[in-house]
Amino acid sequence: MPEAIGYERVGDIVILAADNPPVNALGHAVRQGLADGLDRAEAEGARGVLIYGTGRTFFAGADIREFGKPPKEPHLPELCNRIEASPLLVVSALHGTALGGGLEVALSTHYRIAVPQAKVGLPEVHLGILPGAGGTQRLPRVAGVEAALDMITTGRHVRADEALRLGVIDRVAEGEPREIGLSYLRELLDEGAPRRPVGEMPAPAPVDFDAVHAAVLKRGRGQLSPATAVRAVQAACEAESFAAGLKRERELFMELMNSDQREGLIHAFFADRAVGKLPELEGVAPRPLAAIGVIGGGTMGAGIATAALLSGLTVTMLEMTPEAAEAAKGRIEGNLSGAVKRGKLTSQQFDTLTTKALTLATDYAALSEADLVIEAVFEDMEVKKQVFTKLDAVCKPGAVLASNTSYLDINQIAAVTSRPQDVLGLHFFSPAHVMKLLEVVIADQTAPDVAATGFALGKRLGKVSVRAGVCDGFIGNRILSVYRTCADHMILDGASPYEIDEALEAFGFAMGPFAVADLAGLDIGWAVRKRKRAEGLDPRARDSAYADKLCEAGHFGQKTGKGYYDYAAGAKARVPNPEVMPLIEAERAAQGITPRAFGKDEIVRRYMAAMVNEAAKVVGEGIARRPLDVDVTLLYGYGFPRYRGGPLKWADMQGLPELLADIKRWAAEDAYFWQPAPLLEQLVAEGRSFDDLNKEAVS
Ligand code: CAA
Repeated sequence: MPEAIGYERVGDIVILAADNPPVNALGHAVRQGLADGLDRAEAEGARGVLIYGTGRTFFAGADIREFGKPPKEPHLPELCNRIEASPLLVVSALHGTALGGGLEVALSTHYRIAVPQAKVGLPEVHLGILPGAGGTQRLPRVAGVEAALDMITTGRHVRADEALRLGVIDRVAEGEPREIGLSYLRELLDEGAPRRPVGEMPAPAPVDFDAVHAAVLKRGRGQLSPATAVRAVQAACEAESFAAGLKRERELFMELMNSDQREGLIHAFFADRAVGKLPELEGVAPRPLAAIGVIGGGTMGAGIATAALLSGLTVTMLEMTPEAAEAAKGRIEGNLSGAVKRGKLTSQQFDTLTTKALTLATDYAALSEADLVIEAVFEDMEVKKQVFTKLDAVCKPGAVLASNTSYLDINQIAAVTSRPQDVLGLHFFSPAHVMKLLEVVIADQTAPDVAATGFALGKRLGKVSVRAGVCDGFIGNRILSVYRTCADHMILDGASPYEIDEALEAFGFAMGPFAVADLAGLDIGWAVRKRKRAEGLDPRARDSAYADKLCEAGHFGQKTGKGYYDYAAGAKARVPNPEVMPLIEAERAAQGITPRAFGKDEIVRRYMAAMVNEAAKVVGEGIARRPLDVDVTLLYGYGFPRYRGGPLKWADMQGLPELLADIKRWAAEDAYFWQPAPLLEQLVAEGRSFDDLNKEAVS
């Protein structure tokens, strides 16, 4: 095995080169190698030391896999102090991403040079911690408190030119990190440049930290790490000495390291990376993708077309009439001009995308050369079947045929074609050019390379793709319909929509379920309820009609100005719609229910238990491969608070036996709704967790 840190002598300079693929994470061997390399360089009488990374990057941070395990010496903070204290002149040369502990190592060297493409950042808050190796003390000393607070509390990646402007690095130069680092160090030695330990620089000027703390806490919607990091930066200004500041940083770091939020966020980090790795797709090449077709240019179809255009694909948009096609183009242009406004697209690129890359059509023959066609027409099985029959007739052999249905049976859709192996579901979330989630729905006969093409498309569009099996609602909407029903039951029994939204927003959801319903449009749920009633409800299921009455009165949510809330003063200034509670009260009276009070904790517990129980059914039936697939779905498509890791990670942390006991207790009131998931019962009986299932699936 190669050494994690290579040692090379070039005249009076020692080069320490990290070789720990894939991202040169600062695991134990790397830390030990750096410490040993410095000892040796000092003992051998070198004058300068260069630290850089081989491969694709400088150190991308501490080794996250070591978190939660007993730490092994040398620890990163001591290593950083050791580097800074070296009597030799120490320079770091940065390329790729110098993140977290990686930037902290760089800040401990005396001078920093970077290639123009390099990015630096302290993204620890996204993992539920804060920079724990001096980053909160050193960064404000070189960049000032304001810039340091911005970088540390947002965790954003800063490009080399900005880092230079902020004083985080000292020079930007083209070339290989080894070469630019060597020549910089040689120059510094030749001109007799002094060592420049950041820890010896004066403490930075303070700001109103209480105000910053309050603002950051509010922005974090319950996430603690960014606000805690503010207190660590405060210590850089106010502690008696640099060492005292480091001590305070350590205390705050340990507080976060031991928190559930850290566990949740690190689970989410690895789940993000595991979700696209499916054993059955290993080594399966996706089919080529250059030209795609989109059928239906409503909000969803236009959003999909926008995302595809932005990714460099050419798009043929098929609509029923030339007028409808023009309207679809208008929607796409509206979406793209948003990208122009945000500086993501130049007006020249806008013109190219809307004139050259986008073609409008009303004849299916225009789709004959498409590599992949996504249908985003009305949610009706007969309509979908007609579309797929026509696609089967015109599309070239090997074209992938996808339906964007959110709940219909893909097997039935595939069955009307002569090529069911080429058919799959690609379930986007609205607005499709913004929302990150893509459910790749694999039907019974979907070929592996068609599944791989679905994932390849997702990657190209910048989506997080999750494999889902066929069932009503797939992973996300199936679970949603159950926890939404649980919320409706609580309303019948005495909670108000506003109490429920408030409790769940306090739990960390971006929006409560009733605010979400208003945003999505109450007519959608109304249509689903009508369909389900027409199919015949199970007589044991509780039903309520108050929401239908709201729709009958013309209130569809934000788009009509009123739904559960009244939006007369704008979406942010929502107030309860006074028509709602009387409708609910009438419904309770009609059903003979005496309402009771619900506390915030009970609301959250029931809602989450319903979500977890259905999620366990979804995993148990193989609709989702692993618990982590459910977690990622809820994180990216349903506003689930990332710092809680996802519903099944949350369930593990709550304790599965206690959760199952609650479900069984509630089953005494409503045995039909609260049927425990067999997988949940099995895990409890075996003393195992959802994360055990994740680990078994990944290993
Ligand atoms: N530790 C361990 N493994 C890591 C890692 C880390 N810090 N960063 C990335 N990896 C792993 C990934 O899990 C992935 O492994 P698999 O191939 O087995 O899935 C592999 O490296 C490649 O990562 P990506 O797929 O993410 O590659 P990318 O090119 O898309 O992105 C990256 C590279 C920008 C570095 C991205 O991986 C990233 O953002 N990593 C996290 C960086 C970070 O948060 N660093 C701070 C760590 S905390 C810290 O340093 C705290 C401290 O002070 C003690």
